[in-house]
Parts: sequence; C-alpha cells; structure tokens
Amino acid sequence: MSGKVCLITGGTSGIGAAVAKILAKHGEKVIIVGRNLEKSIETVNQIKQQTGNQNVDFMLADLSSLSQVRQLALDFRHIHPRLDVLVNNAGVTMFRYQETADGFESTFEVNYLSHFLLTNMLLDTLKASSPSRIINVSSAVHIAADIDLEDLNGRKKKYSALNAYARSKLANLLFTYELARLLDGSGVTVNAVHPGLVKSNLGRGGRSFSSRVWRIVNSFGSSPEKGAATIVYLATSPEVENVTGKYFANLKPIRSSEKSYDVYTARKLWEISEKIVEPNTTVSPAS
Ligand SMILES: NC(=O)c1ccc[n+]([C@@H]2O[C@H](COP(=O)([O-])OP(=O)(O)OC[C@H]3O[C@@H](n4cnc5c(N)ncnc54)[C@H](OP(=O)(O)O)[C@@H]3O)[C@@H](O)[C@H]2O)c1
Repeated sequence: MSGKVCLITGGTSGIGAAVAKILAKHGEKVIIVGRNLEKSIETVNQIKQQTGNQNVDFMLADLSSLSQVRQLALDFRHIHPRLDVLVNNAGVTMFRYQETADGFESTFEVNYLSHFLLTNMLLDTLKASSPSRIINVSSAVHIAADIDLEDLNGRKKKYSALNAYARSKLANLLFTYELARLLDGSGVTVNAVHPGLVKSNLGRGGRSFSSRVWRIVNSFGSSPEKGAATIVYLATSPEVENVTGKYFANLKPIRSSEKSYDVYTARKLWEISEKIVEPNTTVSPAS
C-alpha cells in the first residue's frame, strides 16, 4: 500500500492523530478531518515534519452538524477522485445531556449519525476506488448498551454519559454489520474496532463526578499509537483484504454483544438514519 488516499475523522487528537501519522509514515496520502482550523493546521504540520510525507492535508467540519458533514462529503468528492481508506474515528463523550442544532443528542450525532451520513455520501467514490476499506471506531463499552429505536436521543431515561456513549458505539456496530451486508461483493470492506483503553483527550473538560472518574480510568490507558495499531492493520494489511463485517480488537476478530448482531434492529436503525439524513445520500439495499 502506498499513495493510497486515506480520510480520517477526528484526526487532530489521540488515536486519530496517531493513525494519520502512521499512515503518513507508510507513504499514504492522508487527509484528516478537524473541527478547529488552528489545531488542524498544527496537526498536519507536525505529521509532515515527523514523517517527511508532504502529502498530508486537512478538511474542516464539525460533526455535530449534518449540513457541515454533507458539505465535507461534497467537497471531498469534488477535490479527490478516489478514496481507498475511510476511518470513522471522531468521538465524544458528553457528561451532560446536550442536543445539536439538528435536534439529536450530541454523542449520538457526532459518534454515529455524522459517520453514517459521511460514509453513505462517499460510497460511490469508495466503490470506484475498490478494493477499498472502511473502519468504524467503536468501543467495548457498547456491550452495556441498548437501543430504543423510538427514542434515539435516550430521553425516556435519566441521562447517563456512559449509556449515551455506549449507545452510540452500539449504533456504530449495527451500522458496520448492515453496511457489510449491503456492500457484499462490491470490493469495499467495512469493519469495526475497539482500540483498547487509550490515554487521550476523550472526556476532558467535564467537571462532573463521572467525568473525573473517566479521567482517572483513562490515565491507565495505553498510548494513542498502541490504540491506532488495529485500525492501521485493518487499513493496510493484505491479511484482511477480503475481511468484512467483523469487529476487531488487538489485531484479531472478536465477538461483539448479542444485540449488535440483531439484523432487524440494524435494518430499522439504517432506515431511521436514512430518513434523518435525507434521501439521495444513502445506499439502498438493492444497490
Ligand atoms: N480513548 C479510549 O480509551 C477509547 C476507547 C474506546 C474507543 N475509543 C474511541 O476512539 C475514538 C478516538 O477517541 P480518542 O480516545 O482518540 O479521543 P480524543 O483524543 O478526544 O479524539 C477525538 C477526536 O474526535 C474529534 N471530535 C470530537 N468531536 C468532534 C466534532 N463535533 N466534530 C469533529 N471532530 C470532533 C476531536 O477533535 P478535537 O481535537 O477538535 O477535540 C478529536 O480529533 C473515538 O471514537 C472514541 O470513542 C476511545
């Protein structure tokens, strides 16, 4: 693999920045998605300096805005005729209930819905570039989650940051498995990853008790480079060229929760998500 076009969301920090740096070191063309101009410029400059690869760039989009995600996909398609690797990595954990301007619980929109939209809008480019790969960054925490398809914002229950985060990560898995079914035979693979417990900026800034607990837990995490390893493996290794619809940790496929394999829930979540992000931007089961 060399000179492949790789798009990484959440590339300005933690695991995403490490993935971007490693792929740049491999000689790939790396484009990170950031929401902050200064941070994006700084990250790109650092990666160029540290790897010697000048083929590194950024695109700006706040993933808590569906219109910005839509614009990101349109701009990407306009600038780049191909896409070999899409890493849906950006993520947040919100320690209090917050809705985006689109009206969705923030964790759900940033971690899942925005990536659902981005991926669907880039599918034609990925198919035209096949063999190509999609990697969705989930988390082992998904195991604690349930999805109420009639209450995706989780309003029926008292808000819990852990539940909201786990729900978004279960949604990533349901999305991965449904997309793998839809993309069967297309030459585009899609897999999900648990990167392990990694020391990063995730959950920084909150003042609540649970945010302090999370920061303590997080401080025992491994390096972002270690967290990036399985993502880079899925993005580059010939060993997994034809592997799709799997959940990986530590470079190995593992089983995710029973709920994540529920085909009915996955299809329904897809249909609901499709309606939310508007028609004509997603792949249909028949295609
Ligand atoms: N760390 C862990 O132990 C762990 C464990 C399991 C799964 N994960 C997953 O790994 C992924 C990467 O997380 P991390 O640990 O590397 O955390 P991180 O250091 O906080 O990085 C998160 C990245 O997402 C970006 N991001 C957050 N909200 C965004 C938004 N609204 N629009 C655009 N970008 C946004 C951040 O941008 P800024 O730089 O601008 O903040 C940052 O680049 C996440 O999906 C996370 O859920 C992490």
